[in-house]
Amino acid sequence: MTATAPREAGVGAAGSRVAGAASPVSARLRIPVIAAPMFLVSGPELVLAAHRAGIVGAFPAPNARELADFDHWCASISDGVTTGSAGSGAWAVNLFAHRTYQRLDAEVDILCRYRPDLVITSLGAPNRVVDAVHGYGGEVFADVVTVAQAKRAVAAGVDGLVLVCAGGGGHTGTFSPLAFVPAVRDFHDGPLFVAGGIGDGAAVAAVETLGADGAYVGTRFSAAAESLAGDEYRDMLLAAEMADVVTSRAVTGVTANWLRPSLEQAGYDVDDVGAANFSGDLQGAKPWKNLWSAGHGVGSVRSVTTVQAIVDELAADRATAMRRLAARAPDTDHTDTNHSTGAVGRGPEKGES
Ligand SMILES: Cc1cc2nc3c(=O)[nH]c(=O)nc-3n(C[C@H](O)[C@H](O)[C@H](O)COP(=O)(O)O)c2cc1C
Repeated sequence: MTATAPREAGVGAAGSRVAGAASPVSARLRIPVIAAPMFLVSGPELVLAAHRAGIVGAFPAPNARELADFDHWCASISDGVTTGSAGSGAWAVNLFAHRTYQRLDAEVDILCRYRPDLVITSLGAPNRVVDAVHGYGGEVFADVVTVAQAKRAVAAGVDGLVLVCAGGGGHTGTFSPLAFVPAVRDFHDGPLFVAGGIGDGAAVAAVETLGADGAYVGTRFSAAAESLAGDEYRDMLLAAEMADVVTSRAVTGVTANWLRPSLEQAGYDVDDVGAANFSGDLQGAKPWKNLWSAGHGVGSVRSVTTVQAIVDELAADRATAMRRLAARAPDTDHTDTNHSTGAVGRGPEKGES
C-alpha cells in the first residue's frame, strides 16, 4: 500500500454526501477524479502519472493488443505502484463486459494476479467480474447510461457506479446528470462517479454538489503528455470546441461523440442534414484510429501538459468553485427550517408552497 497524501480540503455543499465516504479507493485520492479509460489513448504511462498525481488512472484492457501485452501492462503498472514512484492515487482496469467479447475471462484471470484497486466494466453486465475482483479485495464499478442498467449493476453486486451522461467522449450517455444522479441516489448510496463533459474543477465540484462522489474525466486527459494519442488527433483536440462535437450512432452502432473535422476528413457529409448523415463513402474511415472522439468538454483541452499539471489545475479550480459556493450558502441558522436539509438552492418540494 502506498503512502496517502493529504486529501484536498473541500467545502462540500452541506447536505450532499461526503465524496468517497463509502469507497476505500476514493477515500485516499487527492481529489475525487478518475482519469477515465480511453480506447487507444490510455496506457501504463498515463495510469502511473494519474496515480502519482493522486487520482485514479485507468486503461481499457483491449488497448493491450494481445493478452501477453495485457499481462505486461498490468505488471509494469503494479511494479510502478509498489516501487515508490507512485503517489496517493489508485489504478484501474476497464473491462469490456459485452457477451461477444471473447477475452474477458482470460483478462480477469490475469488481472487477479496484479490486483488493480478498481475494475470498471462497460458495454455489458458486470456479473462475470464481481466475485473474482472481490475475491482479492478489489472494487468493481460499472459504467451505465440508464437507471435500469444502474439497478441491474447494483443487483449484480458492484461497489460503485459511473453514470455516463450526455456530452461524454467515446460512447456517451444521453441523460442530464442533474436528473440522473438523484434518480440513482434514490436506490444507491455507494460510490457514484459522473462522466460526460467534465473539463474543469468547477464541473468536478458541481457533480459533488449533486451528491456524486466524484468525476470521471476522459477528454480532458486525452491530449496529456502521457497519452497514446497521435499528433494529428492531439492537434485536432487542441483546436476543437464544443461545436465540433457531433453525436451519432452511425459510426459504431452505439451513440458516441465524434470530432467533426475527423469525420469530414474521412469523407462524411456531416452538415447534409440536421443530424449527421454518414451515408457517404466511408472507405478508410476507422473509428478511434482516424475517426476521433471527444466530449463536450473538449474546449478545456488547450495545451499538451502533463497529467500532474492537469490535476493541479482541476484541484485549484475545484477549491475555488467550492469556496464560491460556500460564500453563497445561506446562513446556517438552524432556526430557519427552510434550510434544514442544507441543500444548496433547494426550493420547495413538490406539493410544498
Ligand atoms: C477517445 C475516447 C475513447 C474512449 N474509450 C473508452 C473505452 O475504451 N472504454 C470505456 O469504458 N470508455 C471509453 N471512453 C469513455 C470514457 O471512459 C469516459 O466515459 C468519457 O471520456 C467521459 O466523458 P468526457 O470525455 O467528456 O470526460 C472513451 C472516451 C474517449 C474520449
